[in-house]
Amino acid sequence: MHDLLLRALKSEPLERPPVWLMRQAGRYMPEYRKLRERYSLETLFHTPDLSSEVTLQPVEILGVDAAILFSDILVIAEVFGLTLSFPDKGGPRIEPALKTAADVDALTPQKDLSYVFTAIRQLKTQLQVPLIGFAGGPFTVASYMIEKGKALSWIQEDPTSFHRLLALLTEVTISYLKEQIYAGVDLVQVFDSWANLLDEAQFHTFSLPYLQQIVQAIQPLAPVILFCRNSSLRHESLSSIAPSALSFDWHLPMHTLRKLVPSSIAIQGNFPPEFLHSTPDHIQQGVEELLRSMKGQRGWIVNLGHGVTPDTPVDHVRHFVACIQNNV
Ligand code: CP3
Repeated sequence: MHDLLLRALKSEPLERPPVWLMRQAGRYMPEYRKLRERYSLETLFHTPDLSSEVTLQPVEILGVDAAILFSDILVIAEVFGLTLSFPDKGGPRIEPALKTAADVDALTPQKDLSYVFTAIRQLKTQLQVPLIGFAGGPFTVASYMIEKGKALSWIQEDPTSFHRLLALLTEVTISYLKEQIYAGVDLVQVFDSWANLLDEAQFHTFSLPYLQQIVQAIQPLAPVILFCRNSSLRHESLSSIAPSALSFDWHLPMHTLRKLVPSSIAIQGNFPPEFLHSTPDHIQQGVEELLRSMKGQRGWIVNLGHGVTPDTPVDHVRHFVACIQNNV
């Protein structure tokens, strides 16, 4: 297997850094849009042949150094028998929404997401690059399960039941990630995307301890990359739970982050998604500058600071990947 990503996670010296992109499969790709004309997002996620096909698209079209399973962090709600949908407007919806502490206490894990594990097994027979599995951070998933916009007031009004929900989600997430690893994923990324909504004290109470439990349970089995929005503002707290890697936004340069984060933790990032909207020449120049500033540094995975946006030109993304891979 092409193992550049796994070696970067171990901070081995490399000929060049590996590159993959968050949301590397998706609407900016004509091949993906063609499938979406025929199938709903729900169908793509639930049908192993289709989710495998979408997972492979960026590997074939862009030549990235890793595949990320085509699924969503919110499918985990189905474990509790809840329904996930993606209406055209207003973002993903999980129903019925949690409204009271009694709703939390009534949640019981009852389904396993076997379609995800089937897709993973299928992909592993076809891929030459590592396959990344993933899950959402408990706080982020909880905020989608609770009535829209009510998560922060729930924390204020009834922290005890909020902690019960987070503990339950942590337990289910650990089992889900373990099953992904048993099915064949080579590493996982945990997306606590919305943890940036929490203030410092809340972050230390309602996000970090649960992320730490996940890291401790999963890391003996496979590397764990941790992603939060604005992670560079919290590099110290996030480093304290010692994931294999931290995924960073673009607020601080990578070479500064490399100095701030202990060398035992790899770092991932950090071009702004808008960078891929500029001209091919400018993209090449930006890549060259970054590679120069990181020369000789170990434990670095090239990525964006957040996902590829739907209006990004595919040619620019392909050019970006090629610039990283060809500029030794
Ligand atoms: O990165 C990849 O290519 C793998 C697939 C992936 C999806 N969602 C597919 C998806 C991953 C890793 C996710 C994670 C995810 N999902 C996060 C964490 C990462 C982040 O962006 O902060 C969150 C918060 C979600 C929840 C979610 N799913 C939202 C908010 C939306 C709607 C917004 C949007 O971009 O349309 C989704 C839908 C979704 N999940 C799409 C994709 C490709 C939209 C595609 C479509 O409509 O065809």
